[in-house]
Amino acid sequence: MVGLARTAHAGASADVYVQTNRGTPAGRYLRQFWQPVYHSADLVAGAAVPLTIMDEELVLFRGDGGRPFLVEGRCPHRKTQLSNGWVQGDTIRCFYHGWRFSGDGRCLEQPAEDSRFCDKVALRAYPTRDYLGLVFAFLGEGAPPEFPVYPEFERFAGLLEIDSYARDCNYFQNLENALDMSHVGFVHGDNSAAFDGIGRGRDLRAEESDWGVTYVFTRSDGERRVQQFGMPNVFHMMALPNDEDIGWQESLFWWVPIDDETHMQFSLHRVPVAGDAAQRVRERRQKRRSEIDLAHQDVCDRILGGELALRDVDPKRVDMVRLQDDLAQIGQGRIADRDGERLGTADVGIGVIRRLWHREIAAFLENEALKPWRRSAGIRVAAWGIEGTLPRDVAEATTPPEVVDVRPYVEIDIQLKALRGARRR
Ligand code: FES
Ligand SMILES: [Fe+2]
Repeated sequence: MVGLARTAHAGASADVYVQTNRGTPAGRYLRQFWQPVYHSADLVAGAAVPLTIMDEELVLFRGDGGRPFLVEGRCPHRKTQLSNGWVQGDTIRCFYHGWRFSGDGRCLEQPAEDSRFCDKVALRAYPTRDYLGLVFAFLGEGAPPEFPVYPEFERFAGLLEIDSYARDCNYFQNLENALDMSHVGFVHGDNSAAFDGIGRGRDLRAEESDWGVTYVFTRSDGERRVQQFGMPNVFHMMALPNDEDIGWQESLFWWVPIDDETHMQFSLHRVPVAGDAAQRVRERRQKRRSEIDLAHQDVCDRILGGELALRDVDPKRVDMVRLQDDLAQIGQGRIADRDGERLGTADVGIGVIRRLWHREIAAFLENEALKPWRRSAGIRVAAWGIEGTLPRDVAEATTPPEVVDVRPYVEIDIQLKALRGARRR
């Protein structure tokens, strides 16, 4: 039994990680870290979009010169939505009365005011950076921490695939699911790379690492799957194969709340293929983008509503793994009810993650030093049969990979609506 009572700290309630708006403990803690908030390709120069991240209304715009800027979502004058405005150079002008703001939040102009008080008005502005095809932002107070980099995803010969999705449940359910190996034999039991059997508790280890949690499952034949969770909401793993040329996919995931009931999984796959194989992968991936014409989120809704059953769904759907996880996680409710849960030994990963979060949030609330999480050299991943032969060992490229967006078009529609706060209006 993984107990929580003895690990809960004063000031951090049992499910403290659920709510992430600006004033909440988890919201304040998550904001101490750089987070991906959008896809670089979805933000063209000269455009502004409304954006909701961690229940906070923002406006994201790309200056005419290509730099991304992130500022609070409403104009300080009469609080209209600032994304309706015009991007001018690296500034944004409000649609309502034309106040103009720099990308770092300074008020530059108030056209209708004789007695200007620009210098007394400012927007909250956040540092941003385009990296690996994603726009990252630091939404915390004060100076941002060092920007975390993933060098093996920056330079290799092959494709860096962007395959993110939106899911209609609290982000922490997805985060906990990552360190829950015993769901694989059931939820993904039809996947050829799953294994025949159950991830039994006695075969699982979850231990605190320099970066977060190292999670190891050892099968009865000795084969291991090693996954690395990075505090507070990153995951490095070998994802289940879904393409014959690729096999296991070395992947990086971030789970970022849009609000308490919706989140994004920003997903990157490192695909070291070249030549004909690269061309085949590229073509197949592009083809499936339009082939998927019914979003997994909608299929999930219909199954949870009893209209359909999973057995009615084409088992060859390439996003089957995603739909299966939708059903398990959204099936817990938009916000899982953790009161009265009955955790067992196979939930050891969940227990460790919760313990770390409780400990770090409690320290944060007490203004104590936080652990400086870092991906040290020993933080490695593995999957059945490929331990020690990870792609980065064989690809010593110095050039960046080709960034390829493989998100189905229906998926892009759904996630952009969610990120742009459609649920709020
Ligand atoms: S509301 Fe923005 S200038 Fe008036
Ligand atoms: Fe899963």
